[in-house]
Amino acid sequence: MPRCLWVGFYLGFSAYAMVEGYIVREMEKGDIDRILEIERESFRLPWSRALFLDEFTRDYSHTYVVCDREKGEVQGFIIFWVLFDECHILNISVAKAMRRRGLGEKLMQRCEKIAKSKGASYLYLEVREGNQPAINLYGKLGFRFVGLRRGYYTDTGEDGWVMIKNIKKKVT
Ligand SMILES: CC(C)(COP(=O)(O)OP(=O)(O)OC[C@H]1O[C@@H](n2cnc3c(N)ncnc32)[C@H](O)[C@@H]1OP(=O)(O)O)[C@@H](O)C(=O)NCCC(=O)NCCS
Repeated sequence: MPRCLWVGFYLGFSAYAMVEGYIVREMEKGDIDRILEIERESFRLPWSRALFLDEFTRDYSHTYVVCDREKGEVQGFIIFWVLFDECHILNISVAKAMRRRGLGEKLMQRCEKIAKSKGASYLYLEVREGNQPAINLYGKLGFRFVGLRRGYYTDTGEDGWVMIKNIKKKVT
């Protein structure tokens, strides 16, 4: 096998093995301290503890973390609402040191699975127009740009992109 194919195979396999060492589970209140650390290193306007705690009071809110299978350390989280046929992704973040290893994708996949099981037809979210890592992640997973919210982010005045992914099976 040519050397570049070996290298490609090895890199692909390592990323797969890496993600396999992590599980996605429901968020617990005891995770909040670690989640606040990840939130603060990820966003200019981080959510407060109270905002995270509020999510536990909403029956339409779904909160998951991704953590190390053996040590149990939380390295990322996702929060989404499933209401009627729509699923709104409100927050997703992966610890800075753990990015680009497939954990964000793993969280998004769990979100889609839950949304489908609850009968949602589509997933949607808002993302800063300059947030290329997130835009690439959503694009890779099949989201498409459907509209602009002008000046949506009040700290910088940045526009928000609205992105959608249809998840309802087409009847043929
Ligand atoms: C966006 C975020 C959640 C992605 O998490 P991640 O675990 O690093 O993403 P993954 O490793 O699963 O990457 C999946 C895909 O996303 C895209 N991507 C992720 N990071 C990227 C980067 N730095 N540059 C370009 N594309 C990137 C790629 O398409 C990647 O697929 P590939 O590795 O096959 O090329 C992470 O960057 C993050 O926490 N950012 C800060 C918080 C944030 O912006 N949240 C989104 C708010 S809308």
